[in-house]
Amino acid sequence: MSTHNVWTHKGTFLLAAVGSAVGLGNLWRFPYLTGENGGGAFILVYALTIFAVGIPILIAETMLGRASRRSPIMGMRFLARTHKTSRAWESIGWLGGASAFLILSFYSVIAGWAIHYTWQMFTGSLVGADAQTVSDGFDALLASPALLTLYHTLFIIASGLIVGLGIHKGIESSLRILMPALFLILLGVLAYGFVNGDFAAAASFLFTFNLAELSLEGWLQAMGQSFFTLSLGMGAIMAYGAYMSDQASLTRTAFAVAFVDTAVAMVAGLAIFSLVFGAGLDAGSGPGLMFISLPLAFAEMPFGALIGGVFFILVLGAAISSSISLIEPVAAFLVERFDLTRPQAVFGMVLASWALGLLTVSSFNIWAETGLFHDLFGRSAFDFIELLTNIFMPLGGMLIALFAGWALTHSEVMKEMRTSETWFQVWRFLVRFVAPAAVAFVFLRTLPQVHGYLIPAIGALVIVGAFAAGRTFLVEKSQEQ
Ligand code: PFF
Repeated sequence: MSTHNVWTHKGTFLLAAVGSAVGLGNLWRFPYLTGENGGGAFILVYALTIFAVGIPILIAETMLGRASRRSPIMGMRFLARTHKTSRAWESIGWLGGASAFLILSFYSVIAGWAIHYTWQMFTGSLVGADAQTVSDGFDALLASPALLTLYHTLFIIASGLIVGLGIHKGIESSLRILMPALFLILLGVLAYGFVNGDFAAAASFLFTFNLAELSLEGWLQAMGQSFFTLSLGMGAIMAYGAYMSDQASLTRTAFAVAFVDTAVAMVAGLAIFSLVFGAGLDAGSGPGLMFISLPLAFAEMPFGALIGGVFFILVLGAAISSSISLIEPVAAFLVERFDLTRPQAVFGMVLASWALGLLTVSSFNIWAETGLFHDLFGRSAFDFIELLTNIFMPLGGMLIALFAGWALTHSEVMKEMRTSETWFQVWRFLVRFVAPAAVAFVFLRTLPQVHGYLIPAIGALVIVGAFAAGRTFLVEKSQEQ
C-alpha cells in the first residue's frame, strides 16, 4: 500500500491541475507565439492539437497517477511491475522529474522578471515613459546578474515554501485563494483593455485566420505549446493525479482543464493585444511583448501604473501556481524513496534547481554570446535547457500515451474512466496511434536544431532505448500469456 493521501475535495484535482496549466505559458508565451505566427491560423492548429493530442494524454497521465497512487518515478516502477512490463517504463518518471527540475530552473528566472515589473508599475517609474526608455529598462534588467538572481531567489523560495507546507496546508490552501483572485484580475484587465485599448483589432487578429499563414514551423510550435501549457509529460499532472479522488471523472476533468486553460490563453491574448494595438504597437514583438510592449502600453494609459501592477501580480500568481506543480513530483519522490521529510525534500529540489537557474541568469548577460554552452552547443545555457525540455516533454508525453494505450487493460481503464465504450475506443485510438505519431513528428523536427554531434548521439540513444523498451515489453508480455 502506498502512503499517499488524497486531496480534501473531489474537485481539488481540477483546481490544482488548472493552477499548474495556467501560467507563463498562457500569459507570456501564447500571445507572443500567436503574434509571431500570424494569429488565427496558429490558434486553430493549437486548438486542434489540444483536442486530439493534449486531452488524451492529459487523461492518460492523470490515470497513471491515480492508478498508482505514488509519485511519478515510484508510480511507474509500480505499474511496470504490476503489469509485467519492462522496468524501462520507469523512465517516464525519470524523464518527468528531470524535465520538472530543468523547467523550474528557468521558469523561476523569467517569473522573477514579473517581480521587477510589479515593482516598477506600482512605484510609477514607467508612467509616461517612451519606447526607448522602456526597452532600455528591460535590457538593463537582463544585463544585471545580481538583480536577476535576486528575483529568481525570491520566486523560488516562495514556491518552495508553499510545497514545503504539504499538499493540504500548502498547495490546496494557496490555490484556493490564488486561482479565484487570478480569474478576477484577468477579467478586470480584459475589461480595462476593452475600454482603453483596441479590442476589435485584437479580436480580428486572434480570430480571423488565413490558412496561407500557416507555416510548418508555426504548426510545430503550436504543438509544443499545447504540451507546455497543459503541463504534460513532466510528472506534474501524474503527481497531482496520485492525490485525485476516485469519485472525480477523468474525462470531464481533463476537458475542463483544457477548456479553462485555453480560455485563459485567449482572454489573456485579447487583453494584451487590445492594449498593445490600442497603443499603436506591433503584435509580432516576440518574447518582449509582455516586458516591453505591454509596459509601454500601460505607461500611456489612464491608471496604467495601477492596472499594470495588478496585471504583473496576475503573472506572478499564475507562475507560482505552476512552479509548485514542478516541485511536487520530485519532492514526493524524494520523500517516498529516501524517507526524507517534506521540507528536506523540497529544500533539496529547490536548491539544486535554483543553482541550475544561475546558468539561465548568466545567459542574458555574462555568457549571452560566449562561454561553454556556446562552444559546445552553439547556444546559451538557457536556450539549451529550454531545448532539452522541448525534447523531454513530448518524449515523456509519447511514452505516457503508449503505456496507457498498450499496457493498461480494457477493464482497468474502464474502471478509471467509467465511460462509454465508444469514448473509450476513441481515446484509446488517440493515445495508441494519433498522439505518438504526432509527437514523433514534432520530435524529429526538433532534433536537427541540436548542434553537431549531439544529433546522432541523442537520436541513437532514443532509438536504442525505444527498441529495448519495446522488446522487453513485448517479450515479457508474451511470456505472461
Ligand atoms: N503549464 C505551465 C504554463 O503554461 O506556464 C508551465 C508548466 C508547469 C509546464 C508545470 C510543465 C509543468 F509540469
